[in-house]
Amino acid sequence: MTMVPGTVRPRRLRTTPALRRLVTETRLHPADLILPMFVKETLSEPAPLTSMPGVVQHTLDSLLEAANEAVDAGVGGLMLFGIPEHKDNEGSQADDPEGILNRALTLLRDNLGDETVIMADLCLDEFTSHGHCGVLDASGGVDNDATLSRYASMAVAQARAGAHVLGLSGMMDGQVAACREALDLEGFTDVVIMAYSAKYASAFFGPFREAVDSELQGDRKTYQQDPANGREAMRELDLDLAEGADVVMVKPGLPYLDVLAEVACESPVPVWAYQVSGEYAMIEFAAAAGAIDRERAIEESLIAFKRAGADAVLTYWATEVAQRLNSEQSGGAR
Ligand code: PBG
Repeated sequence: MTMVPGTVRPRRLRTTPALRRLVTETRLHPADLILPMFVKETLSEPAPLTSMPGVVQHTLDSLLEAANEAVDAGVGGLMLFGIPEHKDNEGSQADDPEGILNRALTLLRDNLGDETVIMADLCLDEFTSHGHCGVLDASGGVDNDATLSRYASMAVAQARAGAHVLGLSGMMDGQVAACREALDLEGFTDVVIMAYSAKYASAFFGPFREAVDSELQGDRKTYQQDPANGREAMRELDLDLAEGADVVMVKPGLPYLDVLAEVACESPVPVWAYQVSGEYAMIEFAAAAGAIDRERAIEESLIAFKRAGADAVLTYWATEVAQRLNSEQSGGAR
C-alpha cells in the first residue's frame, strides 16, 4: 500500500520559479545594505587584507572611488572606520578634525552631499595604542565615565566633519545620552545616533583587528556582552531607547539571530544587524576551498538577517550584492 498525503501539499507553491518568486516572504534590496569601509592614513595604495579576501584598507582616493561605486549600485549607506598613523592612550586622533576618519567623512560629504547616508564608527579602539574601546584607569581597566567625555567630543567632531549617522559601538554605559547631549548643545540635533545595543564579546570580530591594525591587549569582556546571555540584550535595548537612540543594532549577526529577532519584535525604531568580519571570512574561505557556493551562501546569509527582522544589514559584500540585485531585476527568478 502506498501512503498518500492529504489534500495539503506545501510543494504546490514551489512548482515554478514564477510561483516561488510570487510567494517569497523576504526580499533583498540594495537600499537595505550598508557598506563598512576602512580608510588608513599614510597609505599610498589600497592595502588588501589577508584575513578578509576582497576587502582593502583604502587611501582617501580609493575610498572616494569605492564610495561612488557603492552609491551607483544603490546601497543604503556607507559606514567609515579610520586607522590613524599615530595611536596613543587617549585615542587623540579620534576627535581631531585633521584625524583620518574626520578627513574622510568630510571628503565623502563634500563629494556625495546627501546622495547617500554617511556614517562614522564612534569608538576609540581604532585610535588607542592599547586597542581598547575606551580610555584606561590607573589599574588598566576601561574607565566608563572618562570614556564618555571622549565619545561626546568624537560625536561633535564627526558631526562637524559631515557624518549623517554616528554608530556608537563602544558599549559604554550612558554613551547614547552623552553623545546626544553633546550633539544637541552644538546644534547637531538632526545627526542620527545608531546604537550598537546588543554587542557581544565575539571571536567573530577577529579579522577586524587586522583591518584596523589593532593589537588589543586583553579582551573586551568587561564591556561587551557575554555570548551566553540573551536577556541583557533587551535591557541594553531599553536603555539605548530611553537615552534617545534613533536606530539600534545587533552584532555579530548569524550567531545571534535569536537576539536579533527578539529585538526586532520589541523595538519601535529601526533595527540593523552587522554581518561582521569573521562571518565574511568564513564564507569567503569556505567558498575558496570549494566547500560551499559563494554567491548562494552570501545571499542566503543576508536573507536570514532580513527574515529574522533586520531592516538593514551592514555587510562587506554590499556593493557586490547590490550590483547583482540590479542586474537580476529584469529577469532572474530564483
Ligand atoms: C568597534 C568595532 C568593532 C567592530 C565594529 N566596530 C570591533 C570590536 O568591537 O572588537 C567589528 C566589525 C567586524 O568585525 O566586522 N570599533
